[in-house]
Amino acid sequence: MFSLKDKVALVTGASQGIGRTTSLALAEAGAKIAVAARSADKLGALVLEISSAGGESLAVPMDVANADQVKAGFQQILSKFGRLDILVNNAAITRDTLALRMKLDDWDAVLRTNLTGAHLCIQQALGAMLKQRSGRIINITSVVAETGNAGQANYVASKAGLIGLTRAIAVEVASRSITVNAVAPGFIETPMTDPLPQELKDKMKSLIPLGRFGKDRDVASAIIFLASDEAAYITGQVLDVNGGMHMG
Ligand SMILES: NC(=O)c1ccc[n+]([C@@H]2O[C@H](COP(=O)([O-])OP(=O)(O)OC[C@H]3O[C@@H](n4cnc5c(N)ncnc54)[C@H](OP(=O)(O)O)[C@@H]3O)[C@@H](O)[C@H]2O)c1
Repeated sequence: MFSLKDKVALVTGASQGIGRTTSLALAEAGAKIAVAARSADKLGALVLEISSAGGESLAVPMDVANADQVKAGFQQILSKFGRLDILVNNAAITRDTLALRMKLDDWDAVLRTNLTGAHLCIQQALGAMLKQRSGRIINITSVVAETGNAGQANYVASKAGLIGLTRAIAVEVASRSITVNAVAPGFIETPMTDPLPQELKDKMKSLIPLGRFGKDRDVASAIIFLASDEAAYITGQVLDVNGGMHMG
């Protein structure tokens, strides 16, 4: 695996699923890691797990949709570690229903968390990264941003927006050696996908050429690569991690 020794990383949505596994993988690769989400208890357990494996981490309970909490969270991170090298914008929610029935609150909540939350974190991270003249920003989008999906207009719009955001910021900060990329998972086995009906899961699996659902470790590996020095010449890209279910 790639080395991230002495790098400082922040992962949002780190309390479970892909974010949790990515945090453990970043720590394993040598990074010091700030883990953010709303559930302070789960973050506390993760910090203990990282320290018992010999890593260094900081729990940052925050709601990415709340600008004041994001600002305070970054102050906490910078005062502990003094820098930020890697930002993984992974926090997300779903509020699925057909567009015709979608309440404005459900539209707003999903856009605010998934897209505005990433923007708020990027703004804060850039303060540090521009001074350092280096950095890695990795936004977690989704295969549905590329294919569309019925019943997820809010989620799909937020994830397609993240791809646009990725490219816009990639151009803005390229001259400072900061790269900005997106990872687009397909169907990954996590608490987000666990509740889906078995019939739907069977149908989805039949559409995946590699014949299995993804593991959160599959996504974490792609994130580690994009965060590494070896990916220095890759920016503004979307890396699909979907078992071949969509080939863009
Ligand atoms: N699983 C899949 O098949 C799949 C496919 C494509 C893309 N993705 C994307 O991959 C990422 C991770 O997915 P997952 O399946 O691991 O999801 P998950 O298990 O539902 O975890 C989502 C994480 O986001 C955090 N979160 C939600 N709202 C937040 C907020 N306002 N502020 C801070 N943290 C917040 C949650 O923690 P708290 O509740 O503690 O705040 C949790 O840690 C997401 O961006 C998702 O859209 C997943």
